[in-house]
Amino acid sequence: MRNNNIESEYLARLAPIFQHEFIKQLKHSGCAYRKLNKYYFLISSKRPIKSIFLHSIFKVKMKFEVSGFTKKRIDDLSGLMQDFVKKSINKKTPFKINCNISGIQTFNTDTIGMNAKDIEVMIGTKLELQGYKIDLLKPKYIFILDIFNTVIIAGKVDLKNPAAINIIEKPDDISRAQLKLREAILYFKIDLSSVRNALDLGAAPGGFSKELSMHRIKVIAVDTADLDKRLEKDRNITHLKIKAAQINSDYIFDMITNDMNIDPVESAQVMLNLSNHLSSNGFAVMTIKCPSKNVSNYIKNTKKILSAKYTRFRLQHLPHNRMEITLFMLKK
Ligand SMILES: C[S@@+](CC[C@H](N)C(=O)[O-])C[C@H]1O[C@@H](n2cnc3c(N)ncnc32)[C@H](O)[C@@H]1O
Repeated sequence: MRNNNIESEYLARLAPIFQHEFIKQLKHSGCAYRKLNKYYFLISSKRPIKSIFLHSIFKVKMKFEVSGFTKKRIDDLSGLMQDFVKKSINKKTPFKINCNISGIQTFNTDTIGMNAKDIEVMIGTKLELQGYKIDLLKPKYIFILDIFNTVIIAGKVDLKNPAAINIIEKPDDISRAQLKLREAILYFKIDLSSVRNALDLGAAPGGFSKELSMHRIKVIAVDTADLDKRLEKDRNITHLKIKAAQINSDYIFDMITNDMNIDPVESAQVMLNLSNHLSSNGFAVMTIKCPSKNVSNYIKNTKKILSAKYTRFRLQHLPHNRMEITLFMLKK
């Protein structure tokens, strides 16, 4: 195997729906790139790339081209990954190994008798036997081994990458949306300890409301659709079966969440009208739905409206977001 070890290459992963926008950004910054498959880009750059569309990005630490796979080659790879981990962290630092294989023509799992999970376990177990600390739930670093046909790339990501947030689906989760809010709380480091009440717009079937209720927050859940039956007995949640524009109350909330599947400009207008229902330290989490590829425009127009009443915008496409970007903002 030949180690090309190119310092200024980065491996970026993002959702296919945002590639168009990401390529525009790369072209604008003059970076050369190679699309490896629908999720991954190999980028040459002097600096790490920042983008709200990225799920993960890491500096390529090892890069090999191989002609095919044998059990011996996997053993060599395992050895190189172990050396890489040992050079990068000490025995007390929690980490995990993540192996992904795409384009399996050359990586025949039948002949090798191993899949990506087996390779992760093999490398992890060997390191654990040497006293290193695997932690699947709360790793500080994730060591990535990506196999794209004949190209093998390795590097390490830290928890600043959204994809490194370890969201564990629970059997009693109400909806995928619940995971979106859980990710937003972790990624934007939202402190819910002083939040007493929240207004949840576009609440049905109730994932966001349930997540907030689990933090002992009283929630007014607004949606013309029904909430999941499992929430009927949740005393923290009150369902108002109306449209967001019909809200007519004097309540003051510490937090507003908005996951309404409507045009982002209309959604921003609702947030503007409701901003006087937010306490002075109040904040909001909102998903900006992007009905077409022209994401930058949606974001620009939404922020322009919101900036009359909100500030400190932070945006990120999180792993459980689909055609949407999650926005966190403070009341002005
Ligand atoms: C993606 S779902 C919300 C999922 C929810 N956040 C959860 O955690 O389960 C979008 C919801 O927005 C609601 N919605 C759309 N327009 C609305 C409006 N004007 N007022 C209130 N709810 C609205 C829809 O009825 C739908 O239930």
